[in-house]
Amino acid sequence: MHTNVKKIIYSVLSLVVALAIVQACGNQQPQQAEQVSVQTDTTNADNCSNTITDPNNTKPMALNMRHMAAQADSIKTKLKNGLQVDSLLHPFVPFYLSEPTDPNVLEPKFFDNAKLYREAYVNLMTAKGDQVQAYNAMIGACINCHQSYCSGPLKRIRKLTM
Ligand code: HEC
Repeated sequence: MHTNVKKIIYSVLSLVVALAIVQACGNQQPQQAEQVSVQTDTTNADNCSNTITDPNNTKPMALNMRHMAAQADSIKTKLKNGLQVDSLLHPFVPFYLSEPTDPNVLEPKFFDNAKLYREAYVNLMTAKGDQVQAYNAMIGACINCHQSYCSGPLKRIRKLTM
């Protein structure tokens, strides 16, 4: 009899704890969603993903671009500290093979720009000695394409120049 009462108390207690955990986790979600939209609200422009009106539908090309921007930022930091970068640590991202937000961007001019960017990337990764000039040329190729497509992040990309 005594053990039965204990069992009931234990199961009620563990149910309360479980409910508390579920509630605590549920409460965190709106906060996280808010953070994401604040971080990415610079890209609301032509041919770009719009993370404000469509936060759950970010296309692969937009994700690749975010990765490339983060990569450029860490390359810049390394060069500032006098370090060399290479393509093993910073692999090329074939973004032009991925699905964009606006399929109309996939025109010859876009692929010409992508090719120039790729050449600038290869030049940077194979540059001997000081890589700063080659790095700036690569960021120049990002800027060139963004002057025709998705001008929203231009300001942010210009800041990547050394
Ligand atoms: C050949 C053209 C081209 C090149 C080169 C290019 N971009 Fe982009 N970029 C785009 C297009 C198009 C989009 C929109 C992608 C989408 O929404 O699917 C974009 C989107 C972005 C975004 C916004 C992503 C988001 O959050 O939605 C950033 C940031 C960005 N590019 C940075 C860069 C950087 C940094 C480089 C160079 C390292 C670069 N881009 C090179 C065409 C280009």
